[in-house]
Amino acid sequence: MNHFLDIHKTNPAELRTMIDQASAMKQARLTRPKGALDDDQPLAGRMVALIFEKPSTRTRVSFDVGVRQMGGQSMVLSGNDMQLGHGETIADTARVLSRYVDMIMIRTFDETVLMEMAEYASVPVINGLTDRTHPCQIMADILTYEEHRGPIKGKKVVWAGDGNNVCASFLHAAGQFGFDLTFTGPAQLDPEDEFVGLARKAGSKIVIERDAHKAVEGADLVVADTWVSMHDSQSSKERRHNMLRGYQVNADLMSHAKPDALFMHCLPAHREEEVTSEVMDGPQSVIFDEAENRLHAQKAIMRWCLGA
Ligand code: CP
Ligand code: NVA
Repeated sequence: MNHFLDIHKTNPAELRTMIDQASAMKQARLTRPKGALDDDQPLAGRMVALIFEKPSTRTRVSFDVGVRQMGGQSMVLSGNDMQLGHGETIADTARVLSRYVDMIMIRTFDETVLMEMAEYASVPVINGLTDRTHPCQIMADILTYEEHRGPIKGKKVVWAGDGNNVCASFLHAAGQFGFDLTFTGPAQLDPEDEFVGLARKAGSKIVIERDAHKAVEGADLVVADTWVSMHDSQSSKERRHNMLRGYQVNADLMSHAKPDALFMHCLPAHREEEVTSEVMDGPQSVIFDEAENRLHAQKAIMRWCLGA
């Protein structure tokens, strides 16, 4: 049994196997209706709990559909409607759920909730996003990049905007998959030093560049995310927008990257804020492939967790 908590905590060879398996599983069901079962049903007889303490469209639906395609059953639970949100400890919740289900996916605020769940659950726990990281998203992004452009190893990824949870998992992936990452954004929103250090230690070139135009020079992939994440207070919105306005990904910025650079965004996006519609809907954008690949990547992650 394996927990999938963070990309930097997972062996690179196993991460590679998951990406390759996700790609193969996607190919195997290209022409099938979404509700059709996979040929082999690796999750037959398995029950999966999907817990959400924050809103979600992609994570909720892709995990639910993925479990069903693999022959398992899933239940979507809102943290608020559980005793978890009303004083029962994480440890007790983990022990109880482990008596009913074969795997737990949780989207939560504080990372310590995820870690405590993993510590006390006797079944695999998957990180469906915390304030600090979003590893499933980046597994889908690696799959997407490689489908379009081949191996990501040695490529230059540019993160524009807030050095947030999604950026953190990109940094983790840089170290594990062997690509370089340039962060461009205001100093107040730099990614955590610890994560920058981890990626550098693993051999990746990590650059912090305040000038967005300089940052994207030679980029193979440009990535943006919302300027106000779910864990940020709404009262910080105006201040954050003011800090981040110069880091919008628009056609002018993309023209400074490599001509065949891709654009990614985990979604949901705020059109004309962190990215223009021209870029989102343009030929370099692969945002909906990323969304689709959440399904395929997570199916491989779930199989790895269960050894199925
Ligand atoms: N990208 C992502 O995790 O989307 P949701 O918040 O809709 O799950
Ligand atoms: N950084 C965003 C990602 C949403 C999928 C957030 O945490 O709200």
